[in-house]
Amino acid sequence: MKILEHTKKIAKEAGKLIVKKQGKNLKIKEKAKSDLVTDADKASEKLIIKRIKALYPSHAIIAEESAKTLTKKSYKDAEYIWIIDPIDGTINYAHGLPMFTVSIGIFKTNSSKSSKNFDYITGELVAGVVYAPKMGEIYSAEKGKGAFLNGKKIKVSKKTKLVKSLTVTGFTPQCRKKNLPYFNTMLNKSLAIRRLGSASLDLCYIACGRFDGYWEFGLKPWDIAAGALIIKEAGGEVTDTNGNQLDLFGEDILASNGKIHKEMIRTFAKL
Ligand code: 2AM
Ligand code: CA
Repeated sequence: MKILEHTKKIAKEAGKLIVKKQGKNLKIKEKAKSDLVTDADKASEKLIIKRIKALYPSHAIIAEESAKTLTKKSYKDAEYIWIIDPIDGTINYAHGLPMFTVSIGIFKTNSSKSSKNFDYITGELVAGVVYAPKMGEIYSAEKGKGAFLNGKKIKVSKKTKLVKSLTVTGFTPQCRKKNLPYFNTMLNKSLAIRRLGSASLDLCYIACGRFDGYWEFGLKPWDIAAGALIIKEAGGEVTDTNGNQLDLFGEDILASNGKIHKEMIRTFAKL
């Protein structure tokens, strides 16, 4: 079985597990202000890591709930890094909403680079899966091979003007204030704004043409790794909010169907 098929299988198994646990006496903890973690996040992550380790023992793993225990050494010499969010949209999940996913991205490191450590990983995303179990939707992509929703090829929208575009954003706890002027501007410049509460789902909805543009601040690699590749493979564009190359460990992200990308950058540049 190929790596993408394995990833889809693992994401489906984890998705099934979290759906089973939703609403069932979950232990919910506030890891930081406005940032929740449940038993289900931990159980999902444990399952995903176990499956990856059994199939690909030499690969490295960055996963949200165990991120603190991973050291720089964990990434050294690994050819592949799996970047995992066991539940993206935990607040939705804990409130019984259906907008949450299991998100798994695979990053292939540039093995020619000698100084390979946490801060200077170079390489590229090669595969991504976002599974939204309550929606019955699995998004997947492999570099150079297109993006798919439940096995059918998907493409970004054809909108060319921001004023006709449906945009989406999110407010991570640490960047709420920072995003307000951006939100306010986009409220006036785009057709409308939505706020789903799951970055990976926001990205996949652009990939399949439901949304046209997205931006957010303060995200982590596991929120965006899989979705970023899925958008690119669906013909869209992903950068930072200034139009520079996306840094998975960076502060901000701007994603779109590609056609309204420059207009979004110009709009934000005025702030
Ligand atoms: P999560 O559910 O995995 O935490 C909502 O705008 C998006 O922000 C979700 O994808 C959510 O992912 C993410 N998010 C919430 N709190 C965050 C934090 N403290 N750091 C980074 N991303 C966060
Ligand atoms: Ca999460």
